[in-house]
Amino acid sequence: MKSYKWGILAPGKMSAKFTGGIKLLENAELYAVGSRDLQRAKQFADEFGFKKYYGSYEELAADPDVEIVYVASPHSHHNAHTLLCLRNRKNVICEKAFSINTREVEEMISEARKQNLFLMEALWPPFQPFYKKAHEILKSGVLGRIVNLHGFFTFIPPYDPDDRKFNLALGGSSLLDIGIYPVIDALTFIGVPDEIKATALFADSGSEDSINVIFKYNDRRMATLYSSFRTSIGIGCEILCEKGNMTVSRGRDMNQKVILDLHGMERQEFVFSPPAMGYHWEAEEVMKCLDEGKTESAVVPLSFSLDLIKTLDKIRRAAGVFFPSKD
Ligand SMILES: NC(=O)c1ccc[n+]([C@@H]2O[C@H](COP(=O)([O-])OP(=O)(O)OC[C@H]3O[C@@H](n4cnc5c(N)ncnc54)[C@H](OP(=O)(O)O)[C@@H]3O)[C@@H](O)[C@H]2O)c1
Repeated sequence: MKSYKWGILAPGKMSAKFTGGIKLLENAELYAVGSRDLQRAKQFADEFGFKKYYGSYEELAADPDVEIVYVASPHSHHNAHTLLCLRNRKNVICEKAFSINTREVEEMISEARKQNLFLMEALWPPFQPFYKKAHEILKSGVLGRIVNLHGFFTFIPPYDPDDRKFNLALGGSSLLDIGIYPVIDALTFIGVPDEIKATALFADSGSEDSINVIFKYNDRRMATLYSSFRTSIGIGCEILCEKGNMTVSRGRDMNQKVILDLHGMERQEFVFSPPAMGYHWEAEEVMKCLDEGKTESAVVPLSFSLDLIKTLDKIRRAAGVFFPSKD
């Protein structure tokens, strides 16, 4: 089995979780870390057992032995950091939101194609057992057609105008950070909407911190989506169908649950607790695609990432959410 040398670009909170996933894979080598700060890179490398560490992203990208880079910087920098890696001939898996807007995502995709390198948005749900179970139930036909999907993702982080969640210059927005998940649910289980309505509230920093979204589909279906840094009802997706309902949810610990509630029948519950919160499946997919000579994943195709960012752009326009340095 070929093994791959991984590089981590931006060793923040999410990189620690993702590295926990990579660690489970026999064909993945924890090779190098790049941080804006050499000491932070060393600390992360020592903690997780990476061989090398660099005090800049440029040095990480220039290391000829790094084969795959995981990009986990703030949303505002995904485009620049992904391009940096691709132009240094690295395969890339980049965190969500893939970038700030459609133009930036198109540029990343076009560079990956030009370089004939692998590129994937690090989307967690499509790899998880609860999503697979939900697909299986919907496909079986027991629920009939989906009529309405109600998705939400909320939690209350401490307010800090400099934090990437609230700092406009870093792409701060509940939609791009957590609201993206209910949007993914609607795109996955129903599709791209024909009409979008949205309204938002803003923090003192000027960043959107709560948003309500309505999707309308021409075939008489709807989705209502909500994300917020001001309430704490958790994470969930209720899929309301002709013959019953299905709840597809994950806890903050990423434990997963599917509840099937068919009209007139007893509720059925399916619970999943994957190791390393299930992050290893994304890394496994990257290496499987590379083994097979593929530059794109069929689980998270670049066309899905394009549909996603185009939809996020439309939601932002409808709700008046802009990133002044980018839009
Ligand atoms: N898939 C998931 O389940 C999931 C969950 C949480 C977050 N995420 C995504 O992961 C990415 C990172 O989120 P996080 O929570 O790990 O953020 P974080 O803890 O704030 O880490 C971000 C890292 O980016 C680097 N960085 C580069 N330029 C920066 C700048 N101008 N300001 C601040 N930091 C900068 C910093 O590393 P150095 O300074 O050391 O280089 C920092 O540690 C985001 O895209 C987020 O949406 C995904």
